[in-house]
Amino acid sequence: MLDDLAKSGPRHIAVIMDGNGRWARGRGLPRIAGHRAGARAAERLIRYVGEHQSASYVTLFAFSTENWRRPPEEIAFLMDLFAEYFRDKCDEMVEQGVCLRVAGQLDRLPRSVQDAARHAMEQTQAGQRIVVNIALSYGGREEILHAVKRLSRRVERGEMSAEQLTEEALAGELYTAGIPDPDLIIRTSGEMRLSNFLLWQAAYAELYFSETLWPDFGPDDLEQALDAFRRRDRRFGRQ
Ligand code: FPP
Repeated sequence: MLDDLAKSGPRHIAVIMDGNGRWARGRGLPRIAGHRAGARAAERLIRYVGEHQSASYVTLFAFSTENWRRPPEEIAFLMDLFAEYFRDKCDEMVEQGVCLRVAGQLDRLPRSVQDAARHAMEQTQAGQRIVVNIALSYGGREEILHAVKRLSRRVERGEMSAEQLTEEALAGELYTAGIPDPDLIIRTSGEMRLSNFLLWQAAYAELYFSETLWPDFGPDDLEQALDAFRRRDRRFGRQ
């Protein structure tokens, strides 16, 4: 069974979309132009993966817990971009069979983003073709801590014992509950770090680093990543 899994394509692709700022700088444009182009690249990837059934789940790292340290103007622009994306692309997502999820500290986002995200999640909940999970105000350590706190409260209330704290129980409290672990994590723009992305879920993920800056990342780049994935020997700890 594991051999079949190793040779077939990934079920879940997760992407660290990096390089928007450098893309803009290279063109003498403001950083926000890079983010706008990055949103178009995200849309293109989702459409391509859905149409070609390259995977059933796609997670995109759109805003990290660390990104709150960016200049207020850039944060404000990004938040408007996310709200606009959820509002304007909602019908298209329904047509494409997308089921939208958001992973992260939803409560920490501006009301406009929360409302647009909740509305889009409701509208797309019956989507069967592809689950698109957008990581917003997301950090892997915060996610694990958040899950541990929720489990601890259940232990405190006597609803479960410490012995019942299993890997499955913890995974069930993560923002990604119900979504299988990523098989392939792609990071663009030549950086080779996980940067606090899906720390728990990445345990057996194949990592793929592309030199392409995110706004330029297109179907050809994705196909290269998928080719590399198919060539990997996934042993899951076996010999
Ligand atoms: C990293 O580039 C990108 C971000 C922090 C923001 C990601 C947002 C998008 C790709 C657009 C929105 C996506 C959706 C789904 C609507 P960077 O700014 O760190 O680039 P740099 O490393 O070149 O400076």
